[in-house]
Amino acid sequence: MSQLDDLLEQIEDLEQESREKLEEIESLQECEELRVKYLGRNGEIQELFGQLGQLPDEARAKAGKGINQLKSSLEKKIEEKQEKFEQLQKEKQLEEESIDVTMPGRRRGIGKRHVITQVQDDLTDIFKRMGFSLALGPEVESDYYNFEALNIPELHPARDEWDSLYVDEENLLRTHTSPVQIREMEKGEPPVKIICPGKCYRRDTPDATHYPVFHQVELLWVDEELTFANLKYLIRSFVEEFFGPEFSMRFRADYFPFTEPSAEVDIMPPNGEDWLEIMGSGMVDPSVLKAVDYDPENYQGFALGLGVERMAMLKYGIDDIRLFYRNDLRFLDQF
Ligand code: PHE
Repeated sequence: MSQLDDLLEQIEDLEQESREKLEEIESLQECEELRVKYLGRNGEIQELFGQLGQLPDEARAKAGKGINQLKSSLEKKIEEKQEKFEQLQKEKQLEEESIDVTMPGRRRGIGKRHVITQVQDDLTDIFKRMGFSLALGPEVESDYYNFEALNIPELHPARDEWDSLYVDEENLLRTHTSPVQIREMEKGEPPVKIICPGKCYRRDTPDATHYPVFHQVELLWVDEELTFANLKYLIRSFVEEFFGPEFSMRFRADYFPFTEPSAEVDIMPPNGEDWLEIMGSGMVDPSVLKAVDYDPENYQGFALGLGVERMAMLKYGIDDIRLFYRNDLRFLDQF
């Protein structure tokens, strides 16, 4: 057999073989494998071209034409297969990802205010309805506002009661909301009639009734001719609204450096056995009025401070303050 005939036969064989192989493939991957096998840089077509060099001119032209034809028909067929498989793959993907519009939706949990925020807002709202307006102050407070201006000089034993967390020599995390009294009075002349909710901090080890972060609601009213009777009436109205009319209430003499006289307020539930302390209160001490340049001869005022956690515990019968801060939804969802 001549070299030319041999080569032409090889071309024919390859043509036949590739046609069969192309019929059999079932994936893009196999398609690519065939492409490399036939058309790749070291593929079989290339190998046939390699044999051309040994042929005389005329035979070479003939065989070359045959190989070229095979090559372009292979390229075309493989490309067609490739497109077909790509299309199939796309369809399959669409099918798998398709959305079933009849499927019931996933319920999205709706959040709500934390029980402490709820109680704080409730308390604040009651006093807002009585004509007090909202005031806020910084949680990092200076020694002056937290203590000095409230008649608690350095070394005063009352500082022990408000054991503090200092951020530097001069500033601390406020231990009560009372410094906002001073900040509001400094803004201008009376009347001052404000309510101030907010976070407070003390260096307390957590136990059932203490937590280093807690909330207070502060109230201050300074005006002409305000008396202790006005304070009592206001607190009585507040207790009735927040706890209900069946709760009893009493005032117990107490001491705060910034109020004189001072009183703790106790309440008793309808069938209760013990008095429960709910707030500190009193008439604003004249030395506090002087610290903000108010004339104590012309102005009087009263103030009170409520512990929000304490109010929530009494209202809902909760016996451990730490429950508020454990972020256990089984607890928090109840409110
Ligand atoms: N600031 C006081 C405390 O933290 C409470 C208080 C406020 C007492 C206003 C009297 C008047 O305990």
